[in-house]
Amino acid sequence: MESAIAPHLRCPRSRERRSADDFQPPFPAWTARGNTGSSQLVMGYFGVQWRGDAEGEKAKALLSELVRQLGTGVAAQNVERAEFIDGAGWDNEVAIGYWPDEAAYQSWWQQHQAWWADPARENEGVGLYRELFLPRTTHLETLFSASDRLEGVGIMLGERSAEPIQEHGYWGGMRDRLPASQTEALASSGARKIVSETPRRRFVSSHEGVALIRSGQDWSDVTGEELALYRDRIEPTLRAGMDFLRDEGLAIGCHFNRYMQVSTANGGKPCRSFGMSAWRDLAAMENWAEHHPTHKAIFGDFLQVVQALQGRLDLRLFHEVAVLQADAQILEYIGCHDQTGMLNGAV
Ligand code: HEM
Repeated sequence: MESAIAPHLRCPRSRERRSADDFQPPFPAWTARGNTGSSQLVMGYFGVQWRGDAEGEKAKALLSELVRQLGTGVAAQNVERAEFIDGAGWDNEVAIGYWPDEAAYQSWWQQHQAWWADPARENEGVGLYRELFLPRTTHLETLFSASDRLEGVGIMLGERSAEPIQEHGYWGGMRDRLPASQTEALASSGARKIVSETPRRRFVSSHEGVALIRSGQDWSDVTGEELALYRDRIEPTLRAGMDFLRDEGLAIGCHFNRYMQVSTANGGKPCRSFGMSAWRDLAAMENWAEHHPTHKAIFGDFLQVVQALQGRLDLRLFHEVAVLQADAQILEYIGCHDQTGMLNGAV
């Protein structure tokens, strides 16, 4: 067993861990490793949003353009696609790109910003958005329930911990895995503000300490009784939790939540989904995970099944969590409705 915190990010703690030094997790899990040589990574969510079949064609063509852009110039090192229907009933498709450092992303952006800035984007008849998050490596953690596959930022980092990690399998494990939690409270301050450039092009200036999660499920290898359990019991509860966050999340500090299905376009594997949400702070996210009946129930089910199967579970879970500075979030919405992403509840 090793610490989730990479050796070069360990430092003397001024803040306690929630688990004891000799804690033994009830099941194994791993974290992504790999040093890109940079202290700040880039994750970009590029989305299209529409309502109605006629606009659907246009939206899909725009998404193809976004995917093409992600592969052109200083290309994103991992690109994934996913789709969801949002709380206002609009269809959304998103391409997610990961870059190893800000310089790589900025070079890429130089090549594509004219397309985004073109006033024609405001008259596509389809909503367009880009949400860039630049987590510092000290404020990022990942978790994988299986050792054979990486996802998301893990694919870009390229490696995983050689051994299972210690800080997981209990409430508070997420915070304990964040290197910054050794010395920082990871609190938030400030507020989100909408800055309108034109009536149809809006930016959101965000606040310090936003917590971002992408939490994935992969049931592509799940069969038999385990599949029935996932389909009939775990997934419906997960969906209820995701719907709650989407529709009522603001009151508990969840700025927005998307329950996305990974797209099978361009060779994507079926049977994969993830929840993606942004929160006022890490504490609000922890509070939902630990106390909301939906997540408590799926956490309990997972624990029960993993123990009954002595760790031979085919359901794979992963997540990546980041705590972000205000200026490490670039949020632009063109022709999108008011509940989209970080616009939701912003003033
Ligand atoms: C942690 C199960 C989906 C948010 C965990 C843990 C388990 C789990 C077992 C503990 C991980 C560890 O430390 O070893 C599941 C299952 C899911 C699911 C079975 C779906 C089938 C989600 C989703 C979200 C989420 C979609 C939010 C978008 C969290 C958070 C934690 C967590 C924030 C960290 C709690 C903490 O360490 O304090 N989940 N989860 N989970 N999960 Fe989920």
